Amino acid sequence: SAVVITIDGPSGSGKGTIAGLLAKQLGWNLLDSGALYRLLAFAARNHGIDLTNEEALKALAAHLDVQFIAASGGEGQRIILEGEEVTNDIRNEQVGAGASQVAALPAVREALLQRQRAFLEAPGLVADGRDMGTVVFPSAPLKVYLTASAEERARRRYLQLKGKVDGVSLPSLLDEIRERDERDMQRAVAPLKPASDAIQLDSTELSIEQVMERILSEVAS
Ligand code: CDP
Repeated sequence: SAVVITIDGPSGSGKGTIAGLLAKQLGWNLLDSGALYRLLAFAARNHGIDLTNEEALKALAAHLDVQFIAASGGEGQRIILEGEEVTNDIRNEQVGAGASQVAALPAVREALLQRQRAFLEAPGLVADGRDMGTVVFPSAPLKVYLTASAEERARRRYLQLKGKVDGVSLPSLLDEIRERDERDMQRAVAPLKPASDAIQLDSTELSIEQVMERILSEVAS
């Protein structure tokens, strides 16, 4: 049977990078759950659906036509929405803010639950998000909660987006990240918080390699 490693934490903590590398190294599936919320916000805009219209968003979430395709070389994945590649289009902070808005709606989270659990296939799954260890895969044998200071997270996000996405600046990213974290932590449903049995890792002063080493040592034990 398949096992899950969950990696939760705030924006820019390095979850996405670490989850991708782990999945590649272990040869496991990858669930980028944040991409589902981003895709929903993006698709809603395309279809003229208001981000407060919970019923319409619930229906859109249940039927969203999405494909995740492992990129050649195994680094990252391409994301196809309704037949069109949107891999980079969903990464800007405007879509991130929309994602965080729709993610606060209980009917939306409910509609995405089964879709997320369906990523669990042998031999295993690395699941990246906010509530992977608390709600979606509560019995995962290894849960990681990855954090870093807000300044460091904004800096990483800046380096990641610069050149790929228009109009990014470090000060505005820091503001936007703080605002999004606040909403993600304060919401009533599936708020961002460490699972009681999660290993908490502060990556502010750790390299990607050091974080990987730490997690792989837990996988081995
Ligand atoms: O990459 P980054 O961490 O900035 O964001 P993301 O993981 O793509 O998630 C975007 C937004 O989706 C978050 O701010 C959350 O509001 C929401 N989200 C969630 O509620 N639950 C998840 N499991 C994943 C993301």
